[in-house]
Amino acid sequence: MIYLDNSATTQPHPQVIDTMKRTMEAYYGNPSSLHRLGVEAENVLKQARQIAAHALQKKPTEIFFTSGGTESNNTAIKGVAMRYRERGRHIITSQIEHASVLDVCKQLEEFGYDVTYLPVNKEGRVSLEDVKQAMRPDTILVSIMHVNNELGTIQPINQIGTYLKLFPKVIFHVDAVQSFGKVPLRINEWGVDLLSLSAHKFHGPRGVGILVKRENMLIEPLLKGGGQESGLRSGTENIPGIAGMAKAMRLIEETATQDMSRLKEMQQRLREGIQQIPGCIINSPETEAAPHIINISVLGMKAEVLLHALEAEGFCVSTRSACSAKSDEPSPVLVATGMSREQAKSSLRISLGKQNTMDDVEKFLVALQTCKNRILPYTKV
Ligand SMILES: Cc1ncc(COP(=O)(O)O)c(C=O)c1O
Repeated sequence: MIYLDNSATTQPHPQVIDTMKRTMEAYYGNPSSLHRLGVEAENVLKQARQIAAHALQKKPTEIFFTSGGTESNNTAIKGVAMRYRERGRHIITSQIEHASVLDVCKQLEEFGYDVTYLPVNKEGRVSLEDVKQAMRPDTILVSIMHVNNELGTIQPINQIGTYLKLFPKVIFHVDAVQSFGKVPLRINEWGVDLLSLSAHKFHGPRGVGILVKRENMLIEPLLKGGGQESGLRSGTENIPGIAGMAKAMRLIEETATQDMSRLKEMQQRLREGIQQIPGCIINSPETEAAPHIINISVLGMKAEVLLHALEAEGFCVSTRSACSAKSDEPSPVLVATGMSREQAKSSLRISLGKQNTMDDVEKFLVALQTCKNRILPYTKV
């Protein structure tokens, strides 16, 4: 199988698996225990926090381990909403966020919060002007993703963050789940207060992630209990997962520049190849876009049919975000760009990872052309 669904999840790096196995065998103590095994596990945790802090150019005290992107997003948004509810109840986000942001905002609306869902342009990009227009005296939070998981569009985080520096009481959260290791991330420079990451998107393990929280800024914890993670995230720490994630972060630090340019070259080749197939449209923007995602529509063809035909040829791709892949409705992200329902319904997402090669890309282009020619006469969107 040639795996081209790296936005859904990535293959764990062999060194990550090795680190996790060794950690499970040797460091099974509870880091809160006072005996030697506990202290050793605590040291693994400390070391992982330092590696994460170094990779993100933050202090170790600003790194909080969570169970992944969904929990980091929930903690960030609900944590701000609960903590600052007396200050205001207005939140700004966009129409194309991941469900773990959008559904949290909808839930907060049920509890009396007011949410502005910013529109996007045809490339799937939020505008700074719209952020400015949406700001109100009772705004407490702006939550905008860095890289969109369906289109790969990079949002103007630098511009928004720089503007929000004028409002020190408005907290800026960025869902960077799709961007870490793929595009440069400058948390401090961009004035980001809270940032979410998920290890399984960068060749680490599933079920572990990070919430970066700017020092001295308080938010309410989502999970209360034993007071781990400085009281922000109770629960016995997932030491093997955290160690595996730290390993993946270190590998990214070592190879990020090289990985980014390899991904870019493969994406460029995909673009050229897809453009030559009649009836194929590229939905992802060409500039200000992440190098690992390319979203296309094969006009007149139901995406799911094409997906399974490609699967039979040995390729894994997806129709949209993994958590809503089974829905029959067109992707709300694509619809928000103004695309027709038909075009959105015939869209496929091809997403690249560290293990992919130019040979995979060439083979995929041949398979796409073959499948399209074979199926098109028999299908209807
Ligand atoms: C942009 C974005 N945010 C959040 C998440 C959720 O992350 P996790 O699967 O770790 O909960 C995803 C996963 O698809 C994502 O793409």
